[in-house]
Amino acid sequence: MTRATSDIGHLIDTAEGWVDRSIYWDPDIYALELERIFARSWLFLAHESQVARPGDFVTTWMGQDRVIVVRGRDGTVGAYLNSCPHRGNVVCHAEAGKARGFVCNYHGWSFGLDGRLAGMHEGEAFERTPGFDRRKLGLTPVAKIDTYKGLVFATFDPDAPCLADYFGDFTYYLDVMLDNDEGGTEFLPGCIRSILPCNWKVAAENFAGDALHAGWTHDSGAQAMLGRGVGKVSYENSYQANVNGHCWEFNLDLLGNAATFGDRSVLSWLRTREPEMAQRLGPTRARMVGSMASVNVFPNFSFLPGQNTFRVWHPRGPQETELQTWVLVNRNAPGHIKDAYRKGVMMTFSPSGVFEMDDGDNWQYATRANDGVVTRRQRLYYGLGFGTEIDHPELPGNVHKGQVNDANQRAFLGRWAQLMDARSWSEVAS
Ligand code: FES
Ligand code: FE
Repeated sequence: MTRATSDIGHLIDTAEGWVDRSIYWDPDIYALELERIFARSWLFLAHESQVARPGDFVTTWMGQDRVIVVRGRDGTVGAYLNSCPHRGNVVCHAEAGKARGFVCNYHGWSFGLDGRLAGMHEGEAFERTPGFDRRKLGLTPVAKIDTYKGLVFATFDPDAPCLADYFGDFTYYLDVMLDNDEGGTEFLPGCIRSILPCNWKVAAENFAGDALHAGWTHDSGAQAMLGRGVGKVSYENSYQANVNGHCWEFNLDLLGNAATFGDRSVLSWLRTREPEMAQRLGPTRARMVGSMASVNVFPNFSFLPGQNTFRVWHPRGPQETELQTWVLVNRNAPGHIKDAYRKGVMMTFSPSGVFEMDDGDNWQYATRANDGVVTRRQRLYYGLGFGTEIDHPELPGNVHKGQVNDANQRAFLGRWAQLMDARSWSEVAS
């Protein structure tokens, strides 16, 4: 990798491993992120199981834009800005539900499941108005929407590559969680929402590749859950891999993350399933399903294999992030296993979970320390793991040996800088 010299790129020195702190506090950089990262990238919206039948909807965000995700009468899933084209009011305030359409509280415009303007209070007055054309007054759709093995993604940018190209070879890794069983996956009902006083990238980077913190930050939490600490993170059989800024750090211990639930039923279920998973995914990926690992799908969709917490870090300003968390399970898993995952996520990665509380404090102060005008001029060190790149006979993408590594975080920030400097997708290398 070479040192970038452009406007934003010079803030990220992937060659020497230095990062300018302004990317975590500067309001102008944050405003540009909303344009060039969030209004441009494919963003995670929902699991298909959340919108299984026509009329099922959830509301969420793409960056700071509110969107409604809804399954239409024709069975396809659409996503629309959750803002009325009349005076801008939010048209759906519920987080999830089932609807025949959406009615705006302000002046009574109503919209179909396909976003079209269906009816209006005092409609005759509008119809008498010269030039009025209701076909131009529906809810604004996203530019592209697509699914990958049950997960729904969308982008606001019509020039974005297709979702398959956006992921590239990263689907090899995604299938570890999304395709280890023929029945596929689902989200358990319900979503946990919380506010974190930190920059969204601090959280995304942590999931992209910060195995280093696990054995230190989470050691006492692990002692509470496991009866022992995390200990030294393994170098042998552990890796960081990234493709197009999507990052997966992992080892091949099968059970490391799953063990932190302290529930042996999940461990024996995973051990029993290993041969079947190996047949489906090969022996390497079968060992990754419950292993000590963390993942970030660029830019802000993270999950933990084994603990099965799936989450989105929604940006709310340079110093605030809104977190949505769900629990992913295999659709065909027995009921008591699904319940063990639900309880396990609540005890580990929820606002009251032991590990989430560990992380939250660190992320808050890593962000807020930049309030100091001298502090914010200092650079941060991201040089861990230079020289660990390897060619692996099976693992695709940029692969680095050793889980304790900054390689994925450099790749995440390198991709971020590439998009921030590009005027359009045509300038972004894949
Ligand atoms: Fe929605 Fe007027 S703002 S109907
Ligand atoms: Fe953590």
